[in-house]
Parts: sequence; C-alpha cells; structure tokens
Amino acid sequence: MVRVLFVCLGNICRSPTAEGVFRKLVREEKLEHLFEIDSAGTHAYHLEEPPDERAMAACERRGIDISGRRGRKATAADIQKFDYVLAMDRENYEHLLAISAPGYEVRVRLLMEFAADRPEEEVPDPYFGGASGFDRVLDMIEAAARGLLDDIRRTRL
Ligand code: 4NP
Repeated sequence: MVRVLFVCLGNICRSPTAEGVFRKLVREEKLEHLFEIDSAGTHAYHLEEPPDERAMAACERRGIDISGRRGRKATAADIQKFDYVLAMDRENYEHLLAISAPGYEVRVRLLMEFAADRPEEEVPDPYFGGASGFDRVLDMIEAAARGLLDDIRRTRL
C-alpha cells in the first residue's frame, strides 16, 4: 500500500483538486487497490466544509467529482502515516516540516517536484483570484500527478 496525502492551506481548493486528479489517474491505471489517497489543510478555517464551488466546477469540467470531500487539518500523525506528504507551496511545506515528528521530514515534498516538464515550483493559491486560476491549478496538478505516479511505479510498485 502506498499512502499519498496532498496538503494546501485551506483544504478547499488545491489539495482536494489534487486528491481528485490523482484518484482519477490511479483508477484509470487500475491501481486503486494499491493506494490510500487523502488531502488536508495546514489551517482550520474550513473544517468539515465541502470544496470551494469554483474548484468543484473546474474539476467537474474535467470529469472529476470532488463534492464529497470535507475539509480537515493536517497533523503530525498524518506525516507518520502517509509515505508522500505533498505540499502545494513553500508555506505549506515549511508548516509541515515544523509539525513533523523527528525523522519523518523526508516524507514532505513539494508536489511540483514531480512535474518535470513544468517550470513552476509552487501551485499558486487560487482562492482570491478568478475562475481561470482554478484551470491553471488543474493543468499544473495534472502534470505533477502523472509524474508522481510514474515515480511511484518506478520506486515502489
Ligand atoms: P487552498 O485555498 O489552500 O487551495 O484550499 C485557500 C482556501 C481558503 C483560504 C486560503 C486559501 N482562506 O484564506 O480562507
């Protein structure tokens, strides 16, 4: 079993989107029995809330349903449980390192490390911008999700 956790700030835009994209990819490759996939936020502003309407709409346009997700906060226990703890931006990354139990920091990575063909290091927060920001986030996440699955296939499966 490979456990993958996607983490952003609020767990209502980027990380639920990444969870939905990666779930779809894993399902298409018929590998779902080998994975546990989840998402969480570094902050608790949106506990138990569904994803942002704009994130749900952007995902739906690509055949991904994330409406069932509810916001939750990332914990130190998550970093001990999940093999890959994938931060959307540097702020999320630093937060995760700060709460990590000693020895588990290596599990925390920036998601965009896995998108070899994209120049961006961070997935930008789309919350305060327009609808196009959500499509850009999806493009970036789709590239990274593919790279991540390739990496896991090579190193773990
Ligand atoms: P996310 O976006 O981290 O991609 O879920 C945000 C959601 C909410 C807020 C900021 C970013 N907020 O400030 O409430």
